[in-house]
Amino acid sequence: MNMGNSKVWTLVLLLAVLAGVVYYYMAGLQRRSGIFFENEDQSVPVEITIKDPEFHLVAPDHLKYKQPSLVQGRSDVVTVTPWLAPVVWEGTFDPSLLDSVYRLKNISVAVTVFAVGKYTRFLPDFLKTAEQHFFLGFRVRLYVFTDQPDKVPKVSMAKGRQVMVRLVPISKRWQEISARRMELIQTLIEAELQSNTDYIFCLDVDSKFHGRWGTESLGSLVAVIHPGYYTTPRTGLPYERRPQSRAYVAHGEGDFYYCGGAFGGILQEVYLLAKTCRTNFEADAKDGIEAAWQEESHLNRFMWINKPSKVLSPEYLWQDFKAITPEIHIIRFSGVTKNYADIRPN
Ligand SMILES: *[C@@H]1O[C@H](CO)[C@@H](O)[C@H](O)[C@H]1NC(C)=O
Repeated sequence: MNMGNSKVWTLVLLLAVLAGVVYYYMAGLQRRSGIFFENEDQSVPVEITIKDPEFHLVAPDHLKYKQPSLVQGRSDVVTVTPWLAPVVWEGTFDPSLLDSVYRLKNISVAVTVFAVGKYTRFLPDFLKTAEQHFFLGFRVRLYVFTDQPDKVPKVSMAKGRQVMVRLVPISKRWQEISARRMELIQTLIEAELQSNTDYIFCLDVDSKFHGRWGTESLGSLVAVIHPGYYTTPRTGLPYERRPQSRAYVAHGEGDFYYCGGAFGGILQEVYLLAKTCRTNFEADAKDGIEAAWQEESHLNRFMWINKPSKVLSPEYLWQDFKAITPEIHIIRFSGVTKNYADIRPN
């Protein structure tokens, strides 16, 4: 064997080792990504447990419901975004089909509301109407953050549903309350929800439910389109327009204007949202800048970069003072008309 030959053999050996490593790695990737893989010994599918509740929707066998159509349905509104996320409007989904699918998963939903200072006056209606319209028949925990736990009304709740009260210190400015919400959501997910909750929605307390809000609203990252701006051209949307702010959205950018008063999704996604908005809000504050609409501005910046996987139409957060428009077939949740001077501390 001369020198040339031994180099060839070394090369062959190295390539063989490399091929082995690549094969081992690819097999690992396949195991991690699929729910099934072929078991090498027995050639039978082996199940892998996946925690994401959004994955793998199973309907009960023999469930009867209206035949889906590809040519009939809502044509007066857009029902899908350019990144192919559904936009939820009345008439686009089958509530009993969706409930059946999610019932099999035995999902648990958490809600956060903040009732600090005079905002506690909205709690009775919020809690009472949530019990009438929000995820009926599902496990729901309503977390009420308040500085006055004695003002949280006792509402009788169905089995599997409860109100949890969490104490927060009083803030002098409502902008501060608004800023701390993201921090409290972040902490709640870290400390309490991780082990027992699949989905979370963060809602404004100065609102009431008037119609169904249920499983059709579930998704990884869920945003609600603001009722005041859904026909407004981009340039007119009230995004933060100063480049110095971390909530900056330039003219000519942005998809929709989303509500700060309602958003949600699976824990991982809402956790990232809360953490990002909080970090950016605090960094802005250090630089002496407060975004035009505080956390709502930061949320809009976040949703521009991190596209929501489901978008809820303005049915999901209307405003009582707004005249109803033809595309709104139902108002599910609506902000109560209020006198700001009366309820804000500044
Ligand atoms: C649903 O989950 C809860 C909490 O883990 C459990 O107590 C309950 O028995 C479950 N229900 C069903 C039908 O599996």
